[in-house]
This record gives sequence, C-alpha cells and structure tokens, in this order.
Amino acid sequence: KAVVQWLRRGIASAGMLAPHLQKSMRDYLHLNRHHVAYSGLRRGRQSRREVLCELKEQARLRTLDGTEQPFSGLGWDRLVPPRPLEQLWGQGSKFKSCAVVTSAGAILNSSLGREIDSHEAVLRFNAAPTEGYENDVGNKTTIRLINSQILARPRHRFNTSSLYKGMTLVAWDPAPYSVDLLRWYRNPDYDLFTPYEERRRLHPTQPFYVLHPKFIWQLWDVIQGNTQENIQPNPPSSGFIGIVLMMSLCEEVHVYEYIPSLRQTDLCHYHEHHYDAACTLGAYHPLLFEKLLVQRMNSASQHDLKTKGKVTLSGFSAVNC
Ligand code: C5P
Repeated sequence: KAVVQWLRRGIASAGMLAPHLQKSMRDYLHLNRHHVAYSGLRRGRQSRREVLCELKEQARLRTLDGTEQPFSGLGWDRLVPPRPLEQLWGQGSKFKSCAVVTSAGAILNSSLGREIDSHEAVLRFNAAPTEGYENDVGNKTTIRLINSQILARPRHRFNTSSLYKGMTLVAWDPAPYSVDLLRWYRNPDYDLFTPYEERRRLHPTQPFYVLHPKFIWQLWDVIQGNTQENIQPNPPSSGFIGIVLMMSLCEEVHVYEYIPSLRQTDLCHYHEHHYDAACTLGAYHPLLFEKLLVQRMNSASQHDLKTKGKVTLSGFSAVNC
C-alpha cells in the first residue's frame, strides 16, 4: 500500500515493491524477450514541461500505412483506412477534452461515469465493458485500444462481440526492439494480422488501425530515459500507450485510475474477480515507471488524484516546446 502513496507523490522505486513483484521484474530483465538494447541516456529528474516536450518530440504517433515491407507486398496500402488516425476527426483538429479510462478495480464505486462521459472523446482498453458499470465508468467509447490477444484468442469473440463495434479500433502487438517488420509479421506475440485483414474486409467502414511498433518502442525509450534503474525490457502497458495516443489527439487528457486513488485494491479489473497487485504495479510491463512518468506530467491536484484517481495532462498541441 505504501508504494502507491509514494507513487502519488512521484518518488517510488522498484525496491518498494513486494518481493514477488521484484523477483518477476528481475526475471524479465534476465529474459529480455524482445532483445532490447538501450543505448540512450538516463536523464535526471525533468520538470513537467521537459517531460511533455520530450514525449512530444520523441514519440510520434504512427500506425501501419502499408507502405513498408512486408505489408506493402500484401496490399495493406489499400487495406488500411484511407484517412490516417490523426486526421480521422478533421485535419489539424483536436478534441478539446478527452478521457482515458483504465480497467483497474479501483474505479468500482467511484461514480465517475457522468464525468467521464462529459469529455468529448473517451478511450477504453481491451475487453473492458461499460454495460452494467455505467455509473462508475460511463458508456461513451470513441476509441478502443486492444492488444493482439483480443484479436487472436477465441474467448474474446472479436468478430461477433458487440464490445468492438461502433467505435474506432486501434490494435498493437510487441515486435522485436529492432522493429524488424518481417520478423514481427512471421512471429507476432499473438497473430493479429489475419483477424485484422479479415475485419477490414468484413467491416471496411469501421476505422481500424494497427500501431507501428516503432511508436511503442519510442515510448519505452522515453520511460527508460527518465528512470535511473533498469526498467523491464518489455513494451509499456496498453494504459501508457493509450495515454500518449490521446495526448496526440486531444488538447487535454484526463486519465482515470491509472495512478490509483484511495479506492486502491488488488482487484485487477473492475469487471473480473481476479486479484493480483501486478496489474497495478507491474510484472511484465514497466508499469511502476510509466506511472511515475505520468505523475510527473500531472497538472491536476493531489485531491483529484486521491479521490478520483485522476491525472490531467496537456495534449501535445497545447505545449510549446
Ligand atoms: O489489463 P489491461 O491491459 O486490459 O488494462 C488496461 C490498462 O489499464 C493497463 O494496460 C494498465 O495500464 C491499466 N491498469 C492499471 N491497473 C490495473 C488494471 C489496469 O493501471 N489494476
């Protein structure tokens, strides 16, 4: 519990985590599944504006556009939506205010639904439902960010479930750190390519994008570059990816229950009976370090953080670097 209090104040470290979480961090460092070789620097503590500017400059939102091999050879230039994600809602126009709703158990009994739905655009993750939870999480979904397991694992019923209909979809999967697209295409974590092609053909009018793995690893580089210790050599969580995605599309971003409120709980997801502190503090994903970086960019009050689990971030268009 103490580590979350320090996290809210921005001064937590891996040594504060429970021993089993520290152990799995060390195991992932040793495993280095994605062949991460970081050669960048490690900055000392940067100010809010410095972190915002570094993210804005280093992490360029990018989706597969079918112009690179092997995707160009597969006709993906005609398969992807004709309009780039950044221009989907009008060229150069940004949402005024956006919500990012994490799936954390701590959002239960928050009564944040009305506030969340008051934002112009709302991003949700993976299989997180709104039905039955409207009072706490709202019911508007503009974008759903999904990992490759959602597309590939039968239990998610990606093709038939209503969870994935009537919104913009953005999918991602970890490629090797070198961003070798051919190796990634041949050996993704979960095969997202086949279901993506299939859905594009079946529902050509639904905007549906795949994030470029370069973007994912640029985010990782910024997290490591702002952390003194070695972070897990695995991609950031969907939560962090979604936050930066919305910072690219919105003038202001409000994130709910990413840094936990006083409702903090080991309940992993608000919609499942599964308890695991790793969901909040990280095992595979470098969650603790992502959250420390987001804490540093936060312009909302400690009161909002404690009562709502809310962080407010300036969108990239609104920061002058
Ligand atoms: O588990 P899933 O990835 O679908 O959840 C969406 C995101 O919400 C995570 O990637 C993570 O950033 C955030 N989350 C969290 N704490 C939890 C559960 C999810 O911060 N207990």
